[in-house]
Amino acid sequence: MRVVTTVAEMKRLRSQLPGSIGLVPTMGYLHEGHLELVRQARLENLTVVASIFVNPTQFGRGEDLATYPRDPERDLELLEDEKVAVVFMPSDQEMYPEGFSSWVEVEKVTDRLEGAYRPGHFRGVATVVTKLFNIVQPHRAYFGQKDAQQLAVIRRMVSDLNMNLDIVAVPTVREPDGLAMSSRNTYLNPEERKAAVVLWKALCLAQELWDKGEKSAERLRQEMTSLIESEPLAKIDYVSVADPDSLEELGDIDRFALVSLAVRIGKTRLIDNITLGT
Ligand code: PAJ
Repeated sequence: MRVVTTVAEMKRLRSQLPGSIGLVPTMGYLHEGHLELVRQARLENLTVVASIFVNPTQFGRGEDLATYPRDPERDLELLEDEKVAVVFMPSDQEMYPEGFSSWVEVEKVTDRLEGAYRPGHFRGVATVVTKLFNIVQPHRAYFGQKDAQQLAVIRRMVSDLNMNLDIVAVPTVREPDGLAMSSRNTYLNPEERKAAVVLWKALCLAQELWDKGEKSAERLRQEMTSLIESEPLAKIDYVSVADPDSLEELGDIDRFALVSLAVRIGKTRLIDNITLGT
């Protein structure tokens, strides 16, 4: 496994990599969710490139950039075990050198949900992902369904800007009690960790109501909201039942719906989602 820290070296190496290339972008502190993306990339490509970069431009002021968990040595061991060919691990300076001033803005789909609560977040994501695509030039790139809006933004961007690669979505990997795996779960103390299962419970409730024939998005939002409110440690940012592509809130669900939520458990902000109708 090659570990590459500069853009120049990554570009040089790129021309020597055999077969189709699958890229797995991450911010490190890897867990089974990330590794599932790597495994999917391995199945579909001869060469897997993973990136580890805690992208400062996607964190807002007052967010957790300074405390974001990091363990590069462990990450490299895990990626080696998964037979990743190249790990691209640039510094902030390498990605955003003096004078950097170009940004990728995806409109509309970034207005709501995470975009509304985290202004500038998707501008940082779209910009860094575009840079990674340009540097690595993969045939396919792998993203988790866990971050459903991120996936929608990246699909929109790739389509709008005619980028030459396929985006592959990988289902959310969960803990045995249903909590979606996330690097941020390490922030939770034991009491909060127990409370955090309320996100999954709310999503299961939405699925159950849908399975019983409920078509009103508002009813789903109400039922989920009151369930989450019964957990004293949980504070809701949003509970959404929206069109999976545009992320516009639905009235009645006719085919598919993205049910997503953001909930603060103590100081930790968690997100999760499921898609109904699949
Ligand atoms: P990060 O949060 O490290 O996540 C990297 C990738 O792993 C994302 O595509 C995310 O959706 C996926 N992922 C995280 N938890 C998952 C889970 N439980 N199951 C399945 N996939 C999961 O998302 C980012 O980094 C950044 O925004 C990035 C795309 C790297 C740009 O900086």
